[in-house]
Amino acid sequence: MSRSPRRSRPAPPPARPRATRERQRQRLIDACISALHVHGPSKTTVEKVVAIARMSPGIVRFYFDSKDAMLVASLEFLAAEFEERLLVPVAALRDRPVAALEHLVDLYLGVELASTRKVSVWYAFWGEASARQEYHDICGSRDSKFEDLVRELIASLVATSGARHLDADAIALGLIGVLEMLWQGFAFQTESTIDRDSARRRALAYLRSVFPGAFGAAAPAAIATLPASAYTSAALLAAERASLLRDAWQFAGLERELPAAGTWLALDSPAGLALVVRDASGRLRAFRNACPQRPHALLDGRAGRLAGEIGCPLHGLRYGLDGEPLGDTPGGALRALSVASVEGCVFVGPPASGPEVARPPAPVAALGASALTAGPATLTEFPVRANWKVLVELWLEPRAGVAPAGWSARRLAALTAAARDTPPAAFLGPNQLAEAGSGGLTVLQVLPADARGARLRVFQYPAASATRAERARAYLARRLERQRLLAEIALAESVQRGLESPGYAAEPVAAAPPALAAFRQAIARLLPGAQPEPGDPR
Ligand code: FES
Repeated sequence: MSRSPRRSRPAPPPARPRATRERQRQRLIDACISALHVHGPSKTTVEKVVAIARMSPGIVRFYFDSKDAMLVASLEFLAAEFEERLLVPVAALRDRPVAALEHLVDLYLGVELASTRKVSVWYAFWGEASARQEYHDICGSRDSKFEDLVRELIASLVATSGARHLDADAIALGLIGVLEMLWQGFAFQTESTIDRDSARRRALAYLRSVFPGAFGAAAPAAIATLPASAYTSAALLAAERASLLRDAWQFAGLERELPAAGTWLALDSPAGLALVVRDASGRLRAFRNACPQRPHALLDGRAGRLAGEIGCPLHGLRYGLDGEPLGDTPGGALRALSVASVEGCVFVGPPASGPEVARPPAPVAALGASALTAGPATLTEFPVRANWKVLVELWLEPRAGVAPAGWSARRLAALTAAARDTPPAAFLGPNQLAEAGSGGLTVLQVLPADARGARLRVFQYPAASATRAERARAYLARRLERQRLLAEIALAESVQRGLESPGYAAEPVAAAPPALAAFRQAIARLLPGAQPEPGDPR
């Protein structure tokens, strides 16, 4: 099908917009992939491609010099797609190898990259790669980039798991082999018969067999304790920040606090200062709350309203409510973060351009929280002389009620009963707890200060109280809430002192509740060589 391109090609279509030209070229590549899937490279012809694309042969010749050029362009498209949709997002998670490998398995076996059509076309090109240098180069480059990434992630996982007896190269080859076998299975099926969930489970089962406890293993409820060093280690805190906290969705406030264009909420998150703004079109936007020139907060306080722009008074940089620079402000837009609203609760997540590593915590929806509240929020911050995890563990343990200092259990019970306040709680992992009770909505957010200290931020939204009795109950509940918080902080500090006291050793204890076991399991994964066993003496 090769032809003398310049002379035999028809005159180009007159002044087609670039986007149209790209769309047409892409349509031809899609049709070529479909033709390859049905006929294979040797029997695919320009005529078959244009029939699928429903385009004229003349237009095909405008975009490709020959059938061979069209086949190479199709293979290049598949390779670029593989890079953009798998290699790039997985590499962005390389500092969290478990999440990265899970993402890699999902993408590699997902319908976007591994449809029957695309898989069979890849195999068709591989089959001819020994005879065609261009196919060999493109397929080989794609394979070696993939292998390098898998090797790097497995090596990193071996290093962080402390299981240094494992041969990272051999494990990486094993994973590539498992994925390859699963692809081969896809190539001989139809989309309706492919069981992608089962394929994913098999790939993760392989990884889990090498790295027990990771890759979606059921949370072992038997994990009872973490070593005492987990509550004092600066190195572990750094790992927690990088792997657990940095990209975690954080509560910013209620959507009703952002009623109009220009209204904003600022928040302090483990990843730094952030702000949420409602832009002129009514959309919520989130940015880092830092001037690009000097990293001070662009907006101070918790909430406010802007007159159409975000400005820094120091040197006059100005940004629109969509974060884009205004006037002669140099540089790019403000750094965007993910933002989502769940049942009226606004959360800010990882950088907007980054990979989706998590979703906003759904449990808050079960509380029906925002509908229960009225009036403005109060935000109080308490310093806590305890590792942040001590507070989280108290939240996740069965709560018998912590009596404020000087209160008898009877008095506590009486007040609790009066307030009818047994708040349903939603753990918004890894560092937040929401409670909706008769006093209103309370969201607790613990932020590590250092390995032995934390800040507890408490958002309180009063309940919408209609009757006098409801108002009285809400008052009692809020009073109890504050006392309970202070008591919990005192208990957390006491636990921290106990953990640090010389000679401390844990007694064997009963199995932790599932949520607590899962939390400790997540921490244990970050603590090389220190994965605890039930009743592990610290
Ligand atoms: S520090 Fe913000 S504009 Fe210079």
